Amino acid sequence: MKSTFFKIIVAILLLAIGVYLGKSFFSSPEVNTVPMPSTIKYRNIGISNDTTQVAQSIGFNGKIIEVKKGASIQKAVEEANPGDLIRVYPGTYSENVFIDKDNIGLQGVVIDGEWPTLDGKKEINDAFLYSGNGILIENFKIINYKGNGIMGQAGNNFIIRNNWIIDAGVYGIFPQYGKNGLIEHNVLSIIADAAIYVGMCDNVDVRHNEVFDNVAGIEIENSRHCLVENNYAHDNTGGLLAFITPGLPIKTTFDVILRNNFVVNNNHENFGAPGSTVSGIPAGTGILIMAADDVIVENNIVTGNNNTGITIVDLATGDPKANDLNTEGNPDRVVILDNIMFDNGNDPTGEIKAIMLSKMDTKGPDIFAYGGGTGSTIRDKNKYRTFGLDGYGKAQITDTRDIPTMMTPSPVQPRSVSKEELGELTYYGVCAGCHAFGTRLIGPPMEIIQAIHHDNPQGIVDYINNPKNLREDYPEMPPQDYLSNDAKMAVAIYILGLKE
Ligand code: HEC
Repeated sequence: MKSTFFKIIVAILLLAIGVYLGKSFFSSPEVNTVPMPSTIKYRNIGISNDTTQVAQSIGFNGKIIEVKKGASIQKAVEEANPGDLIRVYPGTYSENVFIDKDNIGLQGVVIDGEWPTLDGKKEINDAFLYSGNGILIENFKIINYKGNGIMGQAGNNFIIRNNWIIDAGVYGIFPQYGKNGLIEHNVLSIIADAAIYVGMCDNVDVRHNEVFDNVAGIEIENSRHCLVENNYAHDNTGGLLAFITPGLPIKTTFDVILRNNFVVNNNHENFGAPGSTVSGIPAGTGILIMAADDVIVENNIVTGNNNTGITIVDLATGDPKANDLNTEGNPDRVVILDNIMFDNGNDPTGEIKAIMLSKMDTKGPDIFAYGGGTGSTIRDKNKYRTFGLDGYGKAQITDTRDIPTMMTPSPVQPRSVSKEELGELTYYGVCAGCHAFGTRLIGPPMEIIQAIHHDNPQGIVDYINNPKNLREDYPEMPPQDYLSNDAKMAVAIYILGLKE
């Protein structure tokens, strides 16, 4: 009796998934022709104060500044005071908007399907960059930026929602070093690194987003207390990722729940920039947990990922070049609860293929664990095809329903950053995408830059304000003049003191 009931439930589920997937198969991912995602079509255009405590706390009881076609959003930001709400009407705005004040709301007004659109024209680096606390960015369409769609630096209590971001050269949504944030109902595609990248943050909820045709879908990196829930991650190279990148100022990733997500067909060819961390993700990766601790994977539907459904590895395996003595590289206490996993591993690649072949198997598993780590558990190992889970004990919990959110019950103090931290953050947040210490990335190694500008930080500031193409074998560097004067000087001083 019980099993018949179960079969019916499974059949209904499969049917639902089939319909859901069918829809996306017929949608073309091309720029400007992406069909309006359902999450956006039905969203509430006003500020919904009921969504979170953060929204209430931001309050926006100042003035409302309206920006209409032909005007500049940046100018409105310059006029705004904390508590003001900037409402942007439909039209195309080709600008980089920099917000270095607290409690500013930026709200697109969508009229008859016409969105306020920020178009980077493949020339401008970033659409929104904020360093203030209590920032809201919602209802924007952001296309063709060379760098990031929305990037935050050290802003606490942020809300980023209902945005539609297509074709960014680096990250789609990238809050860095922020505490207490919400990223919801965004749709992101064709992002060359991570669509949503939560970096060095604490207490962030990422929910109801759709990410597809990106290299990495949703990435929780060097971050703690994060909930990734109800997202639809499909057709990326890798769907959901929780990991540690060594060498960053924050050394840990822990307390992450990946719950109720669809993680489907993440088989996109990897188009990450050579040398970037994500360029190493094998196509066909559903969920990747690398070196992160206390990650709970619950009630996801993970299917059609050709390498593996879930990969759990240590840093020595996943990122062998990395050496940071201050980073503990094992994934410890990972908990796999009930998930629906099928049809994964149909065409494994690289190391997983080789390892499976050594076991006389040509298919990749639903769950693949390799390398160090202790204390990990699973609720029902027999439900999945697994590899390397011999050390996994029986999970002590059945679900996480008593954890509805990872956000804090009330807003946290605004973050203020010392000059030194500002230099470090700017370097890792902005420059390190193109520069490394001793090796050539997109730009020359910092070692060489130190030699040129050794006791002259102002020389670096002048260059980043107005870069010139100095080297035949390098492209031109995009200007970094949007950074605050403090950030420019702080990063210049930080670079001159870099040792590795
Ligand atoms: C999108 C890639 C990119 C980003 C981001 C980037 N750079 Fe560069 N940078 C380059 C490239 C490419 C060059 C080499 C340009 C040339 O020599 O023509 C360069 C060159 C430089 C130089 C060499 C100047 C000289 O006198 O030789 C400095 C200094 C520099 N970058 C600083 C920075 C700082 C500081 C940041 C962060 C705020 C930064 N860059 C962000 C790509 C980038």
